[in-house]
Amino acid sequence: MSAPEATMKAVVYDKPFEVAIRQVEKPLIQHPDDIIVRVTTTCICGSDLHMYEGRTSAEPGTIFGHENLGIVDQVGSGVTLLKRGDRVVMPFNVACGRCMNCEEGKSAFCTYVNPGFVSAASRKRYAAMGPYSGGQAEYLRVPFADFNALILPSGTDHEEDFVLLADIFPTGWQGVDLSGFRPGESIAIFGAGPVGLMSAYSAVLRGASEVYVVDRVYERLNKVKEIGCIPIDFSKANAVDQILQLRGGKEVDRGVDAVGYQAKKGDGKTEQPNAVLEALIQVVRPTGGIGVPGVYVPSDPGAADPAAAKGYIYFPFGKLFEKGLTLGAGQCNVKLYNRYLRDLIISGRAKPSFVVSHNLPLSEAPGAYEKFDKRVDGYTKVLLHP
Ligand SMILES: NC(=O)c1ccc[n+]([C@@H]2O[C@H](COP(=O)([O-])OP(=O)(O)OC[C@H]3O[C@@H](n4cnc5c(N)ncnc54)[C@H](O)[C@@H]3O)[C@@H](O)[C@H]2O)c1
Ligand SMILES: [Zn+2]
Ligand SMILES: [Zn+2]
Repeated sequence: MSAPEATMKAVVYDKPFEVAIRQVEKPLIQHPDDIIVRVTTTCICGSDLHMYEGRTSAEPGTIFGHENLGIVDQVGSGVTLLKRGDRVVMPFNVACGRCMNCEEGKSAFCTYVNPGFVSAASRKRYAAMGPYSGGQAEYLRVPFADFNALILPSGTDHEEDFVLLADIFPTGWQGVDLSGFRPGESIAIFGAGPVGLMSAYSAVLRGASEVYVVDRVYERLNKVKEIGCIPIDFSKANAVDQILQLRGGKEVDRGVDAVGYQAKKGDGKTEQPNAVLEALIQVVRPTGGIGVPGVYVPSDPGAADPAAAKGYIYFPFGKLFEKGLTLGAGQCNVKLYNRYLRDLIISGRAKPSFVVSHNLPLSEAPGAYEKFDKRVDGYTKVLLHP
């Protein structure tokens, strides 16, 4: 066990729009079921930006980073499936593997790890996400390690693909699942950030006939084209009108909201939290379905109006009812998918790393946050290497 005074470098949240590299305490084994992982790759996520922008109750001093891959460095006495030197990737959500929701595969809704709330993540994201530090750091403590760590082939192959198993590949895949998608159907995905691109890629892998992806960021729309999907630029004209026009007035079968509560109007600046839900209700055919991996929060300190501040989102429920649409939302149950998506990567059938735009040392995290937040210079998916 390392000496308590040992320290390491980590990305620490200071205040809105400011993170810094700090020397912090290195994590220790706290429970027999823990492991300590030496992090080799960790990503910046769109979800980190909600915290970075001060749009959550994340506290100063929080270590960011919930998408983590690395090598097992220490093993608690209760761990049976893992050993020192194993290469592992962790789901962004921490789960116990033993409660009712975990047993039913709903690992994003573990009722044990964060009493009083459902789900926790490895980041002190805000009170609702539990007491776990993040992995944008040299080392990470992983609780309930046998359940939470997925073993990868040793070596360094597919590092950029495997790290996406922590969150966005399963999250994009689940977004398509939540929409009720079946092979051969058409689908419209709002948001061409990492999650939207992974939903689009999943729909392609799963045999969609047509995949439309809406965004306004040039580099992201280019990636949409790269994977054989149809880019829709909502800064040019209303996205729903554009899709309906391309389809001769016919709605799509399924829709995915990969944007969430910080959705923007066509100007790209003004927020309109209901923009995407409203558009999806318009563009999906009667009895079709909508999947919502995009995050909505029960309280938003930076909301433009008092209703949105309490997580009330105004959208045409009457239209949804009339069309008989299904709607599924929530955090991704990464454990349900990551093993199988890993195997698609190993067999060469999936290569989600097309989404990766930058590989940087951990020390460059502060600048990377700033650029990713502004969605400039092609910053789409940033991987940090401690
Ligand atoms: N459900 C989960 O478990 C889970 C996991 C990871 C991320 N997320 C959430 O998914 C969302 C997307 O994550 P990301 O990493 O791709 O983020 P991102 O912020 O990089 O991407 C969002 C994209 O949406 C675009 N956008 C904004 N307004 C739009 C609109 N009205 N129409 C179409 N596009 C619009 C933006 O230009 C941006 O490219 C975030 O809310 C994130 O928190 C959820
Ligand atoms: Zn993430
Ligand atoms: Zn559980």
